[in-house]
Amino acid sequence: FTVDWDLSAAEKGGHEYFMLKEIEEQPEALANSLRGHFSGGRVVLDEQRMSDQDLRDIDKVFVIACGSAYHSGLVAKYAIEHWCRLPVEVELASEFRYRDPVLDRDTLVVAVSQSGETMDTLEAVRHAREQKARVLAVCNTNGAQIPRESDAVLYTHAGPEIGVASTKAFLAQIAANYLVGLALAQARGTKFPDEVGREFAELEAMPKAVEQVLTTVGQVRDLGARLAESKAVLFLGRHVGYPVALEGALKLKELAYMHAEGFAAGELKHGPIALVEKDLPVVVVMPSPRGRAVLHAKLVSNISEIQARGARTIVIAEEGDETVRPFADELIEVPAVSTLLQPLVSTVPLQVLAAEIARTRGFDVDKPRNLAKSVTVE
Ligand code: AGP
Repeated sequence: FTVDWDLSAAEKGGHEYFMLKEIEEQPEALANSLRGHFSGGRVVLDEQRMSDQDLRDIDKVFVIACGSAYHSGLVAKYAIEHWCRLPVEVELASEFRYRDPVLDRDTLVVAVSQSGETMDTLEAVRHAREQKARVLAVCNTNGAQIPRESDAVLYTHAGPEIGVASTKAFLAQIAANYLVGLALAQARGTKFPDEVGREFAELEAMPKAVEQVLTTVGQVRDLGARLAESKAVLFLGRHVGYPVALEGALKLKELAYMHAEGFAAGELKHGPIALVEKDLPVVVVMPSPRGRAVLHAKLVSNISEIQARGARTIVIAEEGDETVRPFADELIEVPAVSTLLQPLVSTVPLQVLAAEIARTRGFDVDKPRNLAKSVTVE
């Protein structure tokens, strides 16, 4: 799959860059990736080639991936553990291969890859299969090598993603990983059919929620232009907001070549708060005030700590979250969705922020330096 970079502006939907178009395609990418996966009151995967009994035999899950795909696995861990009561380890494929992981035929390895050609992930799949583990690929490219070498595949339908920085494929990976979790919970009976139906229905409402986020990105673009000269940006989150913080930092690194780091907010006192100084931009991904109150309260206290040390707080919060407003130098509101689905709305402003900072700095948003769309070498 080679990219014809000379495609006309029309191919970019009138946008300056493919990535900006792909950010706007995310509602459709989600809808297309969910379509057809719920019928007869049950979640159905693609070419599932794994029976419900196979899924019931699973006693451990590994998610292996790289980069943004790895972050989608970190998000899925919270959902799969909660829905299936199974231990879930999320591993960088490049590390997994050189560890001596404990795998057997009752281990499910979920290999997440947009391109399906990432060598680190492919070699990890080969290693897993040598250990007789069952491998399910989550992939955005039909017929790619990773699905071909897996026992089963769940394709995302985000469409071709031209921008090197993953956006719509990342959101589609989260949705697909959730489908795997729901299929496991349904086969294992850890979720009743009506509960699985409700979770799927909430997923089906996400394209609309992402549409709503896209109507507010003007504010984020303005912010990006103002942050373009920053030396570094920190990203903080808790629970599923932590992988979102990691993803926001990765976007900023790979697009704007800016030092950016994501942290679990609970780690601040264990070192990172030493980095906080006057005017340092810190992006905080807030959980819903309607969810686990303790998570929300702790993050509010983290924000007041860093604000007291001069940080410039940029808070992504659920619309109407008045508790956090006094602590936000910039408040970016996203629609109210359930906790496990928040990454699908809170990631979008971070994608736009990174793209805008890169664009303001004069960099090629689609083709960042030193990077390739698919890393087919180790
Ligand atoms: C994401 O913005 C990066 N382009 C990169 O981290 C990517 O997610 C990673 O290389 C994995 O690619 P894959 O999904 O095609 O395996």
